[in-house]
Amino acid sequence: MKVAVSYLKSKEDLESTIKNIEATSADYIHVDLMDGVFVENKNDDLSKHVDALKNCKKKLDVHLMMQGQALLRGIEAMSLLNPEYITIHSELENLDEMLTFIKKKGIKVGLAINPGTYAIHLRPHLKEIDKIIVMSVYPGKGGQSFLEETTSKLSVIREMIEDGKYQIDLEVDGGINDETARKVMPYVDTVVSGSYICMSEDMEKQIKKLKSI
Ligand code: DX5
Ligand code: ZN
Repeated sequence: MKVAVSYLKSKEDLESTIKNIEATSADYIHVDLMDGVFVENKNDDLSKHVDALKNCKKKLDVHLMMQGQALLRGIEAMSLLNPEYITIHSELENLDEMLTFIKKKGIKVGLAINPGTYAIHLRPHLKEIDKIIVMSVYPGKGGQSFLEETTSKLSVIREMIEDGKYQIDLEVDGGINDETARKVMPYVDTVVSGSYICMSEDMEKQIKKLKSI
């Protein structure tokens, strides 16, 4: 299981947190950006994130909780960092347009699915995406509890991927710790974990615990 570390909720400042993640065995830095419209919270000072991430050696896994013009700006700014993935939300209205916009930049594209959205909603897009992020909390903030119903949704989506032999990385995001990671492990390729790692005294120890599951 790969581990993507979200720095949304951390006990240290942005620069130190990113420097500390860089020194671990994490597979990705998971970049959460929120516009205050698609979700209530807002952290879209794009130049701040770009500056903090521009010298990173880790691969980037960008998760945009944004819509409209803010989303376009988010995609433009994040593409400067040459991330491996940019993931947008499957609940957006102009989904196809946005997927094409990202793919044209030569960046792999993902779709995130909220707890209230049915898995079947992803079906028309399976051929054109590289990642699915299943939200195991309502998006918008770090440190929430894992929603138990996520496990059955992950199992349905895993089956859809296997049946169609799609090359899609299945990722779960929200409330992941060593206990919840054990529940999702049979289905996912990657877990996003934020506060479990960034609020701890020893990031590498937490990452190792997740990787050994
Ligand atoms: C939630 C974000 C997550 C979250 C993960 O809106 O997309 O990436 O910050 O943090 P934890 O692991 O604390 O739930
Ligand atoms: Zn996220």
